[in-house]
Amino acid sequence: MNQVSAKLIRNGETLESVKQDIAPGRRVPAAKIQFLPEDRAWIAERIQDVLATGQLTLGKYGAEFEQQFAKFCGARHAIAVNSGTSSLEIILRVLGVEGKEVLVPTNTFFATAAAVVHAGARPVLVDMDPESFAVRPEDIERRLTPRTAGVIVVHIGGIVSRRIGELQELVRKKGLWLVEDAAHAHGSSYRGVTAGTFGLAGSFSFYPTKVMTSGEGGLIVTNDDRINEEARIYRDQGKASFTQNAHVRMGYNWRMSEPHAIIGLKHLERLPAMIADRQRIAAIYDEGLQGFRNLSRVQVPAGGVCNYYKYIAVLKEARDRKELKTLLKDRYGVSLAGEVYEEPLHKQPVFEKYRSGPLPVAEDYCARHICLPIFSGMEEGDAHQVLGALRDVIG
Ligand SMILES: Cc1ncc(COP(=O)(O)O)c(C=O)c1O
Repeated sequence: MNQVSAKLIRNGETLESVKQDIAPGRRVPAAKIQFLPEDRAWIAERIQDVLATGQLTLGKYGAEFEQQFAKFCGARHAIAVNSGTSSLEIILRVLGVEGKEVLVPTNTFFATAAAVVHAGARPVLVDMDPESFAVRPEDIERRLTPRTAGVIVVHIGGIVSRRIGELQELVRKKGLWLVEDAAHAHGSSYRGVTAGTFGLAGSFSFYPTKVMTSGEGGLIVTNDDRINEEARIYRDQGKASFTQNAHVRMGYNWRMSEPHAIIGLKHLERLPAMIADRQRIAAIYDEGLQGFRNLSRVQVPAGGVCNYYKYIAVLKEARDRKELKTLLKDRYGVSLAGEVYEEPLHKQPVFEKYRSGPLPVAEDYCARHICLPIFSGMEEGDAHQVLGALRDVIG
């Protein structure tokens, strides 16, 4: 029956014609946020503590979260802030990008390029590498001008490109800087180097859909003492210090509150186990997809560790993804996760003006990939259900 329905769709029948075939049964959501009951109790107890003391921001939990995250990444400093968007903007403000150009991938989230604009620079959108969904050094080199200040790389889906070393070398040779938007890559690494520590500074997001969350939140990691000091000034209204009212930088309220830090601390402790859970599901997908003709996985390079924020698979031929998603959900109970990304930034109305030249690879791959459901706590049976559905519908 499944194959019959899939065939009907391919032959142009409307979805409505097969909806009556839908079998009630188990559903696989696109994503799920996991806080174990004992973790919820731990968090609640500490929130009681900060409510009782009144120390609700820039307190001991934020400091501990910073210390633990820096240790996790193997970085000297970590600065906690209220979002991944603000952590990017703070880094760029500290680096002084005003009036300059910053290279960013076109297949990234809005915030990567928006932070560049908010910091007073011009984002230059760069095409992508189909192998890793990251930027290619040759595409970066082609876009350099005398106004280029640096490059932001994004570890899409949690994959660190095997070409990250070439990128580091290129920016060093050209006297530029490399910054990582590691919003997807908590705990990912390549050849033993943790995401966030390949460049001058790394930016993380703890938005609820990420591999770990603090509710809302972001964080900067760096080995650079000056960036550490300056970022702390910027995040607190540009004040020279917490107790001083001298505003020495054009900062903002980018502080992380203590309840957010408490949530983040617990999820950070769980992070290795949550990543292992995702890797277990990814291994099932890796094996299952080997027999597919029309869908191929994006592979993690040898020497790389992926946190599987996303499990990316590429369709051999473009098809109506919206229809595909509806079919998988309605007929098989399988919800696909959001893409990375559905549209490249140069096709978004606010960024169209930053397009300079063709970006064909991103246009092709943005249209032609899907992200399979993957989350901590997902059961192996769920992964097999996803594979079964994809086998029927895509083959
Ligand atoms: C690649 C990327 N950069 C930046 C951000 C922004 O993070 P936040 O939502 O915490 O501001 C996100 C989060 O969605 C992201 O995926």
